[in-house]
Amino acid sequence: MTHNEKFQLNDGSSLPKIGLGTVNIQGAIGVNSMLTAVEENGYRLIDTSTNYHNEGAVGEVIRRSTIPREQLIISSKLPGAAHDYNQAISMIQESLYRIGIDYFDKYLIHWPLPMQGKYVEAWRALIDAQKFGLIKTIGVSNFLAEHLERIIEETGVTPATNQIERHPYFNNKELVETNKKYGIVTEAWSPFGREINDVLENETIKEIGEKYGKSPAQVIMRWNLQNDVLIIPKSSSAERQKENLEVYDFELTDEDLETIDSLDKGEPGRVEDQHPNEYEEYV
Ligand SMILES: NC(=O)c1ccc[n+]([C@@H]2O[C@H](COP(=O)([O-])OP(=O)(O)OC[C@H]3O[C@@H](n4cnc5c(N)ncnc54)[C@H](OP(=O)(O)O)[C@@H]3O)[C@@H](O)[C@H]2O)c1
Repeated sequence: MTHNEKFQLNDGSSLPKIGLGTVNIQGAIGVNSMLTAVEENGYRLIDTSTNYHNEGAVGEVIRRSTIPREQLIISSKLPGAAHDYNQAISMIQESLYRIGIDYFDKYLIHWPLPMQGKYVEAWRALIDAQKFGLIKTIGVSNFLAEHLERIIEETGVTPATNQIERHPYFNNKELVETNKKYGIVTEAWSPFGREINDVLENETIKEIGEKYGKSPAQVIMRWNLQNDVLIIPKSSSAERQKENLEVYDFELTDEDLETIDSLDKGEPGRVEDQHPNEYEEYV
């Protein structure tokens, strides 16, 4: 198993190509499942958020793990209620206290919330938090081309990553290309459609997997890797966490990649209709 391949980022650092998503991984059960991911399966990147109500659990994992802190990559996200500059700085500090660490390896603005109109201010806070040593790599999430253009133009600082919805029914190809144009690494959220859609049951994906003796989840992982997209699948099961990493012993053909691309449904394909210009998240 070789899942220690890395993406080089535009800020000079690097990230593993696969991380662990943690939506709904909470409490003592969540701690055990994240510990399994880290200790038994070798995950190093943990994707959390203030809104996932599990930053404390992530901290517990760090404390209980035998893996040194420097080898773990802890990533969290700024909630919508804290886009104001001072609130953003306090929120980053509060999240660090909750987790019990003194820096984030990566930290993202969770949603742009353009109707609130403060994402440039929030971006300035992340830029300064990085200067203060609170964050190593700063990035964004759910930012469309116009939001990226604005923060880059107004601050001169390009995010290192943009975490966006991406799965075969909503491949977000144009935005992946926009990210590439700016030298931003795309991270795919809900790569398996969060079991809200039936992408893991899709016959076309199953057939592609059968050619290689691989599961639909593994085909989707590979489709992302071969498109230079970082993936953060969530699994609370030790077996499925492992399965999602066993994707370095086969390669999809260009035809397979195009076939998967052709499953895109455009806007109606989004899992929960969360368009970044409309989605409101002010908690
Ligand atoms: N930035 C954002 O706005 C945003 C939004 C959504 C998500 N995210 C991040 O992205 C991560 C992943 O997205 P997600 O949690 O929404 O959904 P997901 O990773 O697409 O799907 C997770 C679901 O798939 C199942 N699963 C995992 N591996 C599987 C496999 N190999 N075979 C069959 N089923 C499998 C999991 O069940 P089990 O747990 O039982 O295995 C879970 O029910 C999140 O956890 C979060 O960290 C970010």
